[in-house]
Amino acid sequence: MSFLLLVLQVAFWCLVSGAAAWIVACIWLHLRHPEPYWDWNSIDVDDVSFPPEFTWGVASAAHQVEGGSDNSNWSWWETQSDDAGQPRIAGGQKAGAACEHWERYPEDIEHMKQLGVSSYRFSLEWSKIEPEPGVFDENAIAHYHDVLAALKAAGITPMITLLHFSWPLWFEGEGAFEKSENIHYFLRFAERVFQEYRPACKLWCTVNEPEVVSLIGYLLGMFPPGRKDLRAAVLVQRNLVLAHAQAYHRLKHMPGGGTAQIGVVKNIFQFEPYRRWSLPEWVVARVADWAHNGAIMHYLETGHYRWRVPWFAWVTSYDPEVKGAGDFFGLNYYSHAHVKLQWDKAEPLELARKPGEIATDFHYALYPEGFLRALRRCAKLGKPIYVTENGAPDATDGIRDTFIRRYLYALHCARVEGIDLRGYYYWSLMDNFEWAEGYDQRFGLYHVDFETQRRTLREGAKAYVRVVRDCSDATY
Ligand code: GCO
Repeated sequence: MSFLLLVLQVAFWCLVSGAAAWIVACIWLHLRHPEPYWDWNSIDVDDVSFPPEFTWGVASAAHQVEGGSDNSNWSWWETQSDDAGQPRIAGGQKAGAACEHWERYPEDIEHMKQLGVSSYRFSLEWSKIEPEPGVFDENAIAHYHDVLAALKAAGITPMITLLHFSWPLWFEGEGAFEKSENIHYFLRFAERVFQEYRPACKLWCTVNEPEVVSLIGYLLGMFPPGRKDLRAAVLVQRNLVLAHAQAYHRLKHMPGGGTAQIGVVKNIFQFEPYRRWSLPEWVVARVADWAHNGAIMHYLETGHYRWRVPWFAWVTSYDPEVKGAGDFFGLNYYSHAHVKLQWDKAEPLELARKPGEIATDFHYALYPEGFLRALRRCAKLGKPIYVTENGAPDATDGIRDTFIRRYLYALHCARVEGIDLRGYYYWSLMDNFEWAEGYDQRFGLYHVDFETQRRTLREGAKAYVRVVRDCSDATY
């Protein structure tokens, strides 16, 4: 009898202390990682100000807009199917002619002028410039010279991205960034184009979104090369950041390097628990945050890359050249997502929206509060910040105006707090090929009719035009 009592007492105290530990852990996490929501009814979102020297721009990426790309990891991926025989891109779409920006760039620069923006972020298509290893295509090189000359004539400052998701098929064949030995191919390309275009371009982004390339392409298998291998994802993530750092140091030592501004571009996407009292959701959210944001931010800050991978190996490396590499930090910010665990074998984990959040056409919500959080997080690196992408997929144009006004309000708050912000690039100038989603997600300030290639300014986009006009005229 007394033994049974003892067992019951032990069980009782285990339960009580377990519950207490659960509550304490949740409170600690809640305080450490707050998820603010502002009362938008009490905020005058149009009360924003930016200094006249602030850069206002629009962004794009080569594979998404140029067209005529048939020699890259993405053009190959668009012809593939998954194990169930389903095409890799929604509805079997292909980038194809895209926005024909390769030919129509003069018209698109006119559209930029109509917006009033002062800068254009675009990427170089490596597979066109270096179609075979070590063979550089003079026509492709000349093309980007022409683009730069046209931008100059229009008074628009270029910002070049060296690597925005697509790379040559031959580089993919070599194992791409899964092997650190391959980084030298990227460096050769970077040096070549820097030598070509540096006289006409001062702002350079090395690598766009290493976390997206690695996690979506090598862990989730939804981008090329379609792998589902955590170890490969971790290696690719580390090698892409290392490639950024090595390119940064190489280019800084080239003619014109000293005065160029060179930085990496990273997407910050917050992962939150759907229920703030759910410890398992907290755990998954914090792991996802580390995988997507923390590991790279820590690497850039300290030079230490840390990641636990299966079979109990740690990918750890210390690369001093990564620490502090970059003249600025490029932030791509869109939204956050809530980790929701559920009793559903088919979908035990869902990335959900909270009730009441305004939905975009993608799976995520409008969350300008997170934009300020992301900016504060990036500011810890101690570098000037360019917002290199921010925008919303909204085919019906129902929320674009709200999106722009609220996100720019959050940007204004960051500036008022003293965060060193240099510029903002809207994603995107026009609707384009949205990777695995094909043409279904429409991010453009300009609507594109892909039958006629006609561009039309959306009503909602005028909110951006107004801010650019008013803030560029501001006197301080
Ligand atoms: C990315 C890329 C862009 C996207 C944009 C909208 O974030 O995936 O940098 O190429 O098109 O972000 O999703």
